[in-house]
Amino acid sequence: MRGLSRASAPAKVILFGEHFVVYDKLAVVMAVDLRAHVSVKPRMDNKIIVESIGMGLQGEFTLDGVYKPIIGEFGEDKLRPIYVAAKRVLDLAGESIGLNITVDSRIPVASGLGSSAAVLVATTAAVGSLLEMNLCRDDIFRLALEAEKIIHEKPSGVDPAISTYGGLIAYSRSGGVMMLEAAANLPLVIGDTRIKRDTREMIHRVSELRRLYPEIFKGLMDAGDRVARLAVEAIRAGDLRALGHLMNINHALLYAIGVSNTAIESLLWAARRAGALGAKITGAGGGGCIVALSMPEDRRRIAEAIRVTGGEPLIADIAHEGVRIEE
Ligand code: PMV
Repeated sequence: MRGLSRASAPAKVILFGEHFVVYDKLAVVMAVDLRAHVSVKPRMDNKIIVESIGMGLQGEFTLDGVYKPIIGEFGEDKLRPIYVAAKRVLDLAGESIGLNITVDSRIPVASGLGSSAAVLVATTAAVGSLLEMNLCRDDIFRLALEAEKIIHEKPSGVDPAISTYGGLIAYSRSGGVMMLEAAANLPLVIGDTRIKRDTREMIHRVSELRRLYPEIFKGLMDAGDRVARLAVEAIRAGDLRALGHLMNINHALLYAIGVSNTAIESLLWAARRAGALGAKITGAGGGGCIVALSMPEDRRRIAEAIRVTGGEPLIADIAHEGVRIEE
């Protein structure tokens, strides 16, 4: 066993297919160059101490999962998935040692950029490397997805998949991961509404509406799937204009399923007026982020329009590398 192990994993933007991917439709996702870093050290006792530097939280879990806060009163919900991810790797190795886990993430939380999945993927990889287990990417993905299930009941797996593999992927529940090669750079501008929201609650809202209007939902979801498939072709052809149109159509479908709001719409329209080729919600909606596709020369203008409208702009580039062990 090593004395210290560190790993990192990237954030993501969903370019096509959020929500629909929960119902086994296709999603297209890109890893972006903001990373969550996790370091892990063994302890002499068998407690698992989890600390999140960014959130100012620290808590202690006994090996059977009883929680005691150390810093911050209401941290359990945030820290428990990290404990679960570490515990699954320990169980797989047949180990019952204690750990100090420290999370240092540059990814904004609860905003649709996949911060929790990136943390779970990096935790899984760091604990695996500490125990010298040689976990492959497929193992890391599957273990992190199990841990994500305690955050929301029905995760599609798209978030841990992109944080694990990096780059640009098409993903569906039943089809798994397909790596994509883009024939052109995809210049993106992200706009954060700064409204935090809960992915679990947004998925629940969508499933309630689907229960009331199953036929309409079937049509919307099939259309979403078709849009994502055409997007894969446009990415392979480097056709930014077509991708922009498809992003706008995808957003209209997300609007129809009730996950947009006025803060999102104002950022979207600001980006479009500033020259975006297309713009949509990215992630679960209800707040969080939008993503706009731009010509390379228009990115600064679009970012400025987002800022003036009250959002937090972020110019994001692709992260080719997924999870990585930091030596
Ligand atoms: O957590 P977010 O905002 O990145 O949303 C994840 C995408 C959903 O499709 C809404 C949920 C899922 O598990 O795929």
